[in-house]
Amino acid sequence: MSDRLILAHLPTPVHCLPRLSEWLGTEVWVKRDDLTGFGLSGNKVRKLDWLLADAQRKGADTVITTGGLQSNHCRATAVACRQLGMQPVLLLRGEAPSVADSNLLLDQLLAAELHYCTAEEYSLHRDTRMLAIAEQVRQRGGIPYIIPEGGSNAIGSHGYVAAGRELLSQQPNGFDACCLAVGSGGTLAGLALGPDIGQTIGFAVCDDATFFTAKVHDIAAEAERCGFEWTLRDNWHVNDAYRGEAYGVAGPEVWDIMATVARLEGLFLDPVYTGKAMLGLVQEARAGRLSGRVLFWHTGGGFGLFGRGHEVRT
Ligand SMILES: Cc1ncc(COP(=O)(O)O)c(C=O)c1O
Repeated sequence: MSDRLILAHLPTPVHCLPRLSEWLGTEVWVKRDDLTGFGLSGNKVRKLDWLLADAQRKGADTVITTGGLQSNHCRATAVACRQLGMQPVLLLRGEAPSVADSNLLLDQLLAAELHYCTAEEYSLHRDTRMLAIAEQVRQRGGIPYIIPEGGSNAIGSHGYVAAGRELLSQQPNGFDACCLAVGSGGTLAGLALGPDIGQTIGFAVCDDATFFTAKVHDIAAEAERCGFEWTLRDNWHVNDAYRGEAYGVAGPEVWDIMATVARLEGLFLDPVYTGKAMLGLVQEARAGRLSGRVLFWHTGGGFGLFGRGHEVRT
């Protein structure tokens, strides 16, 4: 059985954004990981290619993972499970709404087994809750496999070590800076453990820079324990200046930048992850801290746009 599956549509395109570049006065390119698939869209499927291969090697028939109510990672995991004939089980932070939309609607269509927990339970006990669910799965004769929040561990990070190589096969000189959103740290960790694609800046969308810097180092240490021969580069950092009030809360400046990118380039961002990262890219470039050829790594999240029409300013 191989180390990885091929669920993601790869390689994803990389191209210049000419009108945004002219508007900003800095050359901006985009890596289209929003195009890894439809139900599978976004960065998570690159991690799932490796995580679900591991699950299959271990004979699992049920995959348990966790995230917010509208988690892209949970939705992508549920889609991938169904494509592989496995049962998805999701532990979601929040209360079941009377009517589901966006990612949760897709989770329901996929008949993922849904469990809910409070924000406090999520932050303190989500891993214990997943272990308890795994025990229930065993008792009913299933073989469970647990994926941590965001698929962010050493196995999942293979996806973005490989993605860095993919980028260099398309753009051999790399970029002066590569910008992306950081929500649980695995994507940034994979890129920072991979080949040198240029200064890599992770824009935090929830926790702060200290938290995510430690998370990347934790994943690097886990990778070393697993015997993966990767070296953590020096030229990466986390910027937490654009995360706003809270996870998922997008201020008017985020919606404005999303509208600007849509109008100039016909490219959609989302209010939870990529909108905040693009705001960071634009503001950092305006402040003179980003220059040359800058890559925006689009990590998907498009379903997060739906159900939020009341926030759009036209
Ligand atoms: C659309 C999108 N972009 C970026 C991220 C951040 O990736 P990571 O969790 O690997 O930090 C996530 C998930 O958290 C996501 O769903």
